[in-house]
This record gives sequence, structure tokens and C-alpha cells, in this order.
Amino acid sequence: MMELERRLALVVLISGSGSNLQAIIDRAARDLPVEIRAVISNVPDALGLERARRAGVEARVLDHRGFASREAYDAALGALIDEFDPRLVVLAGFMRILTPGLVARYRGRMLNIHPSLLPKFRGLHTHERALAAGETEHGASVHFVTEELDGGPLVLQARVAIKRGDDSASLAARVLEREHQIYPQVIRWLAEGRLRLDGALPVLDGKALAKPVIWDFVEDQARA
Ligand code: GRF
Repeated sequence: MMELERRLALVVLISGSGSNLQAIIDRAARDLPVEIRAVISNVPDALGLERARRAGVEARVLDHRGFASREAYDAALGALIDEFDPRLVVLAGFMRILTPGLVARYRGRMLNIHPSLLPKFRGLHTHERALAAGETEHGASVHFVTEELDGGPLVLQARVAIKRGDDSASLAARVLEREHQIYPQVIRWLAEGRLRLDGALPVLDGKALAKPVIWDFVEDQARA
């Protein structure tokens, strides 16, 4: 059993299913040196809250509908996050645009996962848009969060094939399977002190990442 104090303290923010949260919970139960101190959802009935409770993790709801402005919500969210004193804030399907103030508060300490090969397809409906654009490859990206929506410094991407006959559901499932691998990996790099944000660039093992690390699953899938 790893000592608790040697684990990276996390707060995970969700709005929905929480399958990425589950991947982190499952890894933490094995060998990922993190302590998930809380899961916070802006959606009261998000399935991910149940996943947290089942894992014995504190599950909190902060419903955005009770707030008059985005600033007011984010101020309350920041205060709630800080109650748990995390070293890292993990956005895992948290479907809200953050205010610059909140982003600045956690600069270098907040990660997001996005279901596309950024900088392609920022925003919503990425799988539909990749199919409509006739792409042959697609994927997911883990990045540090900055003020630019889905535009922060990229750390790790998973690349998958788009196959003939794919629809958005089949493509989303193929991407999600890889999300569950790359998100715990980036968290591991941080937990092990191998990754940090230095100004505008992530630094991994002492090397500035002008481009993300890429895990390429395209060939595997062509053979499958
Ligand atoms: C994932 O596709 C993630 O990339 C995006 O939102 C989705 C969350 O899925 N940001 P889940 O809630 O982790 O299952």
C-alpha cells in the first residue's frame, strides 16, 4: 500500500457519465499514486457521482442553476475545490466554460481531456464533425487548462482510425477506450514529478513539449 502522503491529491470535476473518472478510480486502486479527495458535479444526477460514492470518494453537487452569473458560480466552485486542498484539478467531462479567474487560480494544476486531435475540433460534437469532414483519423487529447477553450498546452494524444461504416457512436466508443488510457497516464506523470507546465509549454522528463506525445492506435485497429 502506497503511503497516502506520497499520493497526488486530486479533485475531479464532472457533469455526466464519469467513465474517465472511473478509469482514474480503477487505476488508483491498483498503482496510480493519487488520492481522489472529492468529485464535484454541476449536474445533480450525474452518474459519475454514484461511481464516486461506490468507490468511497466524497461526492459533492454544486448546481450552476442556483447562481446569478458565471463569475458567482466559479467563485463558489473555487472555494469548494479548495476545501479539499488538491494539488491537481481534473476536468473529466465537466461541461462548463470556466471564467479566466478560475483558470488562473489553477494554472499548471488543472487538466482537461477533449475528444479530438486538438487543435482540430474544439468545442462540442467532435465525433460528428470529424466524420462530416471526411477525416481518416481521430482521437483524444489531454492538455493543461488555459483561458483559451480547448486550447491549452497539449501533453498526450491518442490517435485512432476512422473506419468505413463508423457512426458517431462507434467512433466515440473507440476514442473513449483510449481516453481511459491517456488520462491516467498524464496524471501519473504529474504524480511522479515528471511533468509540469513551464510558461506556455509542458515539460516532460526535462524536455519541453512543443508537440504532444502521441500514442498511435491506428495500426492496431487496421489489423484488428
Ligand atoms: C469524454 O469524451 C471527454 O473527452 C469529454 O467528455 C466526455 C466525458 O465522458 N470532455 P465521461 O463522463 O468521462 O464518460
